[in-house]
Amino acid sequence: MTDSRLASLHQACPDLRLKTDPADLEHYGRDWTRRWTPAPLAVALPSTVEQVQAVMRWSAEHAVAVVPSGGRTGLSGGAVAANGELVLSLERMNKAVAYDAVDRTMVVQAGMPLEALHNAAREHGLIYPVDFAARGSCTIGGNIATNAGGIRVIRYGNTREWVAGLKVVTASGELLELNKGLIKNSSGYDFRQLMIGSEGTLGVVVEATVRLTDPPPASNVMLLALPSFEVLMQVFAAFRARLQLQAFEFFTERALAHVLAHGAQPPFEQVHPYYVVTEFAAGDEAQEAAAMAAFEDCMTHGWVVDGVISASDAQAAQLWRLREGITEALAPHTPYKNDVSVRISAMPAFLERTQSLLRQAYPHFEVVWFGHIGDGNLHINILKPADTTSAEFVSQCEQVTRLLAQVLAEFDGSISAEHGIGLVKKGYLDSTRGAAEIALMKAVKQAFDPDGRLNPDKLFDP
Ligand code: MLT
Ligand code: ZN
Repeated sequence: MTDSRLASLHQACPDLRLKTDPADLEHYGRDWTRRWTPAPLAVALPSTVEQVQAVMRWSAEHAVAVVPSGGRTGLSGGAVAANGELVLSLERMNKAVAYDAVDRTMVVQAGMPLEALHNAAREHGLIYPVDFAARGSCTIGGNIATNAGGIRVIRYGNTREWVAGLKVVTASGELLELNKGLIKNSSGYDFRQLMIGSEGTLGVVVEATVRLTDPPPASNVMLLALPSFEVLMQVFAAFRARLQLQAFEFFTERALAHVLAHGAQPPFEQVHPYYVVTEFAAGDEAQEAAAMAAFEDCMTHGWVVDGVISASDAQAAQLWRLREGITEALAPHTPYKNDVSVRISAMPAFLERTQSLLRQAYPHFEVVWFGHIGDGNLHINILKPADTTSAEFVSQCEQVTRLLAQVLAEFDGSISAEHGIGLVKKGYLDSTRGAAEIALMKAVKQAFDPDGRLNPDKLFDP
């Protein structure tokens, strides 16, 4: 340990595990964006809240910036450490601490993987309903940092709805206990909600009290083939009117082609331009009949040209794989990701505008569309051609993002629906937030982190 700052961290907190191997610095210094070269000072892996507090006090004394780190599955550079920061990984703080059957809450450490929380809730006959493909690697702390959404928002809402309390270590090392699991608490500013979605820029989430709920009724999964993009919202309306939807997800033929190349089985004999995977309550005959009626209605109108309904859990998982496998299948192509949202009512007009914009804007690039259409959230991924340099590719994509941001501003939409702003989208924050609002955000940052040591450069520049 040659760095004197690390020697003094070791002295201040002798039991704190520290990693400085180049391979560890690379591994912990980046997320799923591969645009920045990781260059942290070191990686700290605390096992207690007291150690996190000691790290923040040391950071204040030595003016070292800290990047809080969960599973690093983020897609906006929110957990990147490229400038000599200390990565503060919560991965050793990964346990359930308490369960309360009356409150139906579970207290979990921030480094608990989302899937482990799902399993822990199920042991008590309940569910934690926020869910998405990165469940095995992402952590609840990271989910809180970005107010993660995913595939069941249409039914259960975002992470924000499920957090009843937070313990947060501040930039100066104080411990805040926010909302303490209360349902009702009208006693001033709700810093718990402020922390959710703040991307580690205001404090380090060390523990969360999450709400659990009853498991949903038995469900079925249906995959639908659509002949055109224009009918997508009609299909959504037809299904939503008749069924209790748990999920309504869309992807294109290009997205499916990449997942199939990654080993999935083709769902239909023919290739279709657009697909929807939807999950809905099907606990009784009436619900099953409603599902068939919705399907037949769409077929009659020509909005759907083929479909398959899951006959077993294994088949449901196979159908879900076609949607959930997209991110991993695209990763080797270092996609430039757009993660945008508008109100559902604005979706048809927005889709029309965006489609024609992107057709003109990206003539040379492969563009893959998918997303949580029932939440008004679209993922537009641009794949990097092998013969284009990263810098050239990003610069061309950014020109289009500027145009997309203008369209979003017209539609009162958001440049980041669920991935966060991080490093990737900070240049476009003003397309979604007004100047007065951004000024207040900066004032809030100043109040919580006056020296700018918590996840610097993310969200906005000082
Ligand atoms: C998804 O919906 O699959 C995730 O947001 C990840 C992604 O956009 O790649
Ligand atoms: Zn998504």
